[in-house]
Amino acid sequence: MSVDPLRGLMRVYVSRPVPRTVWRSLAGAFEVVVHPSERPPARDELLRAVAGSAGLVTTLGDRVDAELLDGAGSALRVVANYAAGYDNVDLKAASARGVLVTTTPDVLTRATAELTMALVLALLRRVAEGDRLIRSRAAWVWAPTFMLGTGLAGRTLGIVGLGRIGRCVAGLAEAFGMRVVHTSRSGGAPLAELLREADVVSLHCPLTPETYHLIDEAALGAMRSDAVLVNTSRGAVVDEGALAHALRHGVIAGAALDVFEREPSVNSTLLELENVVLAPHLGSATVEAREAMGMLCVEALRDVLIEGRVPRHALNPEARAAA
Ligand code: DGY
Repeated sequence: MSVDPLRGLMRVYVSRPVPRTVWRSLAGAFEVVVHPSERPPARDELLRAVAGSAGLVTTLGDRVDAELLDGAGSALRVVANYAAGYDNVDLKAASARGVLVTTTPDVLTRATAELTMALVLALLRRVAEGDRLIRSRAAWVWAPTFMLGTGLAGRTLGIVGLGRIGRCVAGLAEAFGMRVVHTSRSGGAPLAELLREADVVSLHCPLTPETYHLIDEAALGAMRSDAVLVNTSRGAVVDEGALAHALRHGVIAGAALDVFEREPSVNSTLLELENVVLAPHLGSATVEAREAMGMLCVEALRDVLIEGRVPRHALNPEARAAA
């Protein structure tokens, strides 16, 4: 294990720049090595950079698997994933090596729910389309029939996955006068019924083998032709090719996407369609949420490496016994 020779601090590798407050807290407790760019390190660079680390701070763009864990070496005790989702992490491989993995839930719930509503509004009230129209310098003038959208009040919002974020979206949508139906692992309406009924289908489930391509050609075909799809969960919950085809052929009326199947690439058909609103994975992108997420990562590293305890957001507390 590499230890700062002067201060006797353990080494922590951070795979992206983090907010200043987070960096300060990290630097006060550890020997910190931060990847200097928002662009991810190349895989071989990442493998080299993690070597000898006792802790890693990773993002959803880093594949945390056996290779990476072994690359870090036997000093590794904790991976703090700077996200609520953890589909990028091979939990089994981490547990087998006695490495605790943590996430950052709760603190991004409100931010992600707000972004979901922003996308619903942008899509139904044609905000992004209007912005493009004005910037194109095309002639336009107010008229009773000009660029009409759809109001939210009285519409049905179908929430797929009623976890923290799904519940928060439900509350915000109700404040806009929407009727909310949901489906989740523990209950609610069957997915087929929700798809048939909802004016807006909003995805809030994690990406797992069960939810991979949950919204495929058949699911899109089960939606109403005047309904829209909103995705702020993970791109691969939707078959992006099937979605592009459905949008182009009027199977559904529109889509608003914050996440993509092969992020950061986006299906080229989606880029051409007016009835699509696109955002670059901004769900948790508020100053408050990103700082709070970072501070949860710091807390997790301190808990494991300094206090010797299992952090409150550990996904695999059993890993400690294996250490
Ligand atoms: C998460 O935390 O899983 C989000 O997708 C990050 O914005």
